[in-house]
Amino acid sequence: MYVCLCHGITDKAIKQAVREDGVGNMRQLREALGVGDQCGKCVRMAQSIVDSTIIDE
Ligand code: FES
Repeated sequence: MYVCLCHGITDKAIKQAVREDGVGNMRQLREALGVGDQCGKCVRMAQSIVDSTIIDE
C-alpha cells in the first residue's frame, strides 16, 4: 500500500527502512526516504507504521 504518494513510498519500504536501515522516528524516515517532506499528508500514517514496526521487533 502506498503511504506517501508524493514520493511513491509504500508501507513495505518504511518497514524495511526501520528494520534494515535503523530508522527509528519520523525525522530519520524523512532523511532516509523523503517521506513527509512535500504535502505532509502521510506523516500520521508513516509515524504509526514506524512505531508498530519497532514494537514488532
Ligand atoms: Fe507524503 Fe505528500 S504524501 S509528503
